[in-house]
Amino acid sequence: MTDTASLRARSAAFWAGAAAGWIRHADRQDETGRPLGAAAMDRLAARPAERILDVGCGCGGTTAEIAAAVGQTGAAIGVDIDEAMVTAARRRFPTDGHPGIQFHVADIETLDVVPGAPFDAAFSRMTLMLLADPVAGCRTIRRSLRPGGRLAATVFRDGGVNPWLSAAMLGAAPHLGPLPPLPVGDEPGPFAFADPARLARILTTAGFTSVTITPRDVALETPDDADAVAEWLIEVGPAGAAYRAAPPADQASARAGVARLLGRFREPGAGYRLPTGLWLVAANAGTPTHHEPREDKIQ
Ligand SMILES: C[S@@+](CC[C@H](N)C(=O)[O-])C[C@H]1O[C@@H](n2cnc3c(N)ncnc32)[C@H](O)[C@@H]1O
Repeated sequence: MTDTASLRARSAAFWAGAAAGWIRHADRQDETGRPLGAAAMDRLAARPAERILDVGCGCGGTTAEIAAAVGQTGAAIGVDIDEAMVTAARRRFPTDGHPGIQFHVADIETLDVVPGAPFDAAFSRMTLMLLADPVAGCRTIRRSLRPGGRLAATVFRDGGVNPWLSAAMLGAAPHLGPLPPLPVGDEPGPFAFADPARLARILTTAGFTSVTITPRDVALETPDDADAVAEWLIEVGPAGAAYRAAPPADQASARAGVARLLGRFREPGAGYRLPTGLWLVAANAGTPTHHEPREDKIQ
């Protein structure tokens, strides 16, 4: 197994390489990707004047949604490890049009608390399973919440219920240069929280109480543009950096390879429906204790 410091370095390098794709497709990610976080947004039920943290905010779309819900007297604080994405988030959602919104570049695992803490609630869409040390990251979130503060998040379940993720890599890889290493065992990656018992242990060890983890099946729906859909999924996935470095002919082959594998999710003329299996995670920060929960190794 790779040690945590190496996993952290690998993750930071991965996001630095992936950022250009996320920035380029930020609007599509907000629109088509909305079902990825909708259940957590509903569960969060942000109220006017609340102060809410968005962990792994990417290009800021969900932070802006939260800012709209908490209004002028509230605060929506997005945190992301990648500087380029945070810069894009600030550009897309400036404070003059979105009062109460702020973005910070930070690794959630290495902060004591997020600047601006304590928060009434924390939200996270598709990030927690990517943390090199998820107990450390979740502990920062919990410490940044007021006593009784709530967490609402989504993460992927397993690869079988999210077939488009592997299609985006398998269809593209033969046409591109080397891809980042695939996660082994419990290493961070899209399916690192496939086992809800592991996820529950991580949250409990991080000090959360009243943890609930429930399955949600949604579909990402896009217009019928095979080339655009393939490019979006390649560019926000592990093949994104290799794709951007490839010559145009290889990029076209990669898109065609992905489009072929996605064909079963396409209804010609109508569009794509990409089946997506999530865990909806809800938890409570509980009341502070004199002792931090033990940081035993989580399997
Ligand atoms: C899969 S993307 C999701 C982005 C956004 N929440 C969305 O749904 O569009 C995961 C995000 O988590 C960020 N991230 C990964 N590890 C992080 C860490 N340790 N601390 C803060 N952000 C992190 C990445 O930079 C990336 O923007």
